[in-house]
Amino acid sequence: MQTHQYDVVIVGAGGAGMRAALESSSRARTAVISKLYPTRSHTGAAQGGMCAALANVEEDNWEWHTFDTVKGGDYLVDQDAAEVMAKEAIDAVLDLEKMGLPFNRTPEGKIDQRRFGGHTRDHGKAPVRRSCYAADRTGHMILQTLYQQCVKQDVEFFNEFYVLDVVLTHDLTRGPVPADEQVAVSGVVAYELATGEIHVFRAKAVVFATGGAGKIYKTTSNAHTLTGDGMAVALRRGIPLEDMEFFQFHPTGLAGLGILLSEAARGEGGILRNSEGERFMERYAPTIKDLAPRDMVARAMANEVREGRGCGPNKDYVLLDLTHLEPAHIDAKLPDITEFARTYLGVEPYTEPVPVYPTAHYAMGGIPTTIDGEVLRTNTDVVAGLYAAGEVACVSVHGSNRLGTNSLLDINVFGKRAGIAAAAYATTAPLHEMPEDASAPIVGYIERLRDHAAGERIADIRRDLQETMDRNAQVFRTAASLEAARDDIVELKKRYRSASVQDKGRRYNTDLMEGIELGFLLDLAEIVVAGALAREESRGGHFREDFPTRDDERFMLHTMAYLRPDDSPGGSRVDLDYKPVTVTRYQPMERKY
Ligand code: FUM
Repeated sequence: MQTHQYDVVIVGAGGAGMRAALESSSRARTAVISKLYPTRSHTGAAQGGMCAALANVEEDNWEWHTFDTVKGGDYLVDQDAAEVMAKEAIDAVLDLEKMGLPFNRTPEGKIDQRRFGGHTRDHGKAPVRRSCYAADRTGHMILQTLYQQCVKQDVEFFNEFYVLDVVLTHDLTRGPVPADEQVAVSGVVAYELATGEIHVFRAKAVVFATGGAGKIYKTTSNAHTLTGDGMAVALRRGIPLEDMEFFQFHPTGLAGLGILLSEAARGEGGILRNSEGERFMERYAPTIKDLAPRDMVARAMANEVREGRGCGPNKDYVLLDLTHLEPAHIDAKLPDITEFARTYLGVEPYTEPVPVYPTAHYAMGGIPTTIDGEVLRTNTDVVAGLYAAGEVACVSVHGSNRLGTNSLLDINVFGKRAGIAAAAYATTAPLHEMPEDASAPIVGYIERLRDHAAGERIADIRRDLQETMDRNAQVFRTAASLEAARDDIVELKKRYRSASVQDKGRRYNTDLMEGIELGFLLDLAEIVVAGALAREESRGGHFREDFPTRDDERFMLHTMAYLRPDDSPGGSRVDLDYKPVTVTRYQPMERKY
């Protein structure tokens, strides 16, 4: 075992982690620990853009952006946080421009902007061009740009180190600690993938920026590595997760595969059609049609399929039609995704519409934080020195449904804020004691998984988890489907306890890594389903067929879900609490587009 000591440790080297590192490393001794090599982080898969009311091509302002974010999130957005994000968006884009990010340009040389779902002019009157972009590789460009800057600034990276535990001064798993006691972070425990060695990082401040958890689903746009590690690590240490029942299904995954086809395709003029060739979004969102927010478009697509207007031999997808666009325009604005359609489906988007269906894309929920990224351990109390930013966190700027391109914005705005806040805290805070045996729980966990003689294969349990989540906790949900998912998860947790990995080695044991990831996924799926079952209403990305309307009286509240170990068959239970939504200027209204 090796021990390291830093002022600030950042866990995750995607956009949020590296944006935090750029701020923190110039102010405090900082290390970035990442399960992946930084430029393989999932930010690199984000395609269509990063929004900011620059008004480069059309009249726009940050207030309209705030309103769209609040309405898009079906009024579960904390409006103070949305205001911060929309206001700071402009500098966030300009920061990246100064770092050298190759944005597409207007003929006059300004940063070009394109349309995206739910972004409108004048409170919903018409779509607005708000998303700054680099073709359909915006996330890739952001990741490369931030990494270059980190290298230039000599940020210290621990690549292919997998953080498996966070050490706190108090045990929160048994229930709340009195509000007058300060709970603080002492550091993290990581597993070095190359050697199998355990590393303990003592730190005054820790920032989690580990991304999402799309791999709880089978059909997802998320990379294999998106297993909700940071969320689950926090959860297992008694920190709640907020609003996890809200999972976003991106409308245009390649049918049958889930690979992302950017919403930019519709922003550039693409149209969704059913088997009758009808532009069906005209019926669901007459004003902004195909550029309605994702929850509405995904539901409309699923509904077309359910009502028999799906396409293909099994009538199980709809079509994204780009054939009316000039090939030169497609090549300039959408080069990657059109290549995906050719490569993975053998479809030529110049001349043929592309089969698409919703794909699990984004967790609106996550580790609850303040607008400075401080992690909340209850509705009001923070863990001193612990921060989170990006998809792992819930600020909450996305409420129950995130608008497209608000995610690359979120990682930049709140990554920066968390980095500044963590470094500021670390310059005055003490280094908290770390128990001698801080790594013991993780060492025991790994040994059990690796050294277990013969048990069920990890891949089989993961497949069954993903299948039950796809079947039962998808775009449409009911109490019965969610109860089926809940019961399946209990069984899967039992099976997981006697599972084993085939590879018993220490070096690059990816079998073991997937075993650990599966444990995280199971815990997170349990939280998603428990929150979804309890939320007897439909709002944003959570649609209950048995409760098809929004119920502000009972549920204009954030869910706070705690995982408690117990003696039940699954080995844990979920305790749910709720906290109010922050409303500043926009009272909830019916959401129409
Ligand atoms: O469709 C897209 O390009 C995805 C963007 C996002 O999730 O923000």
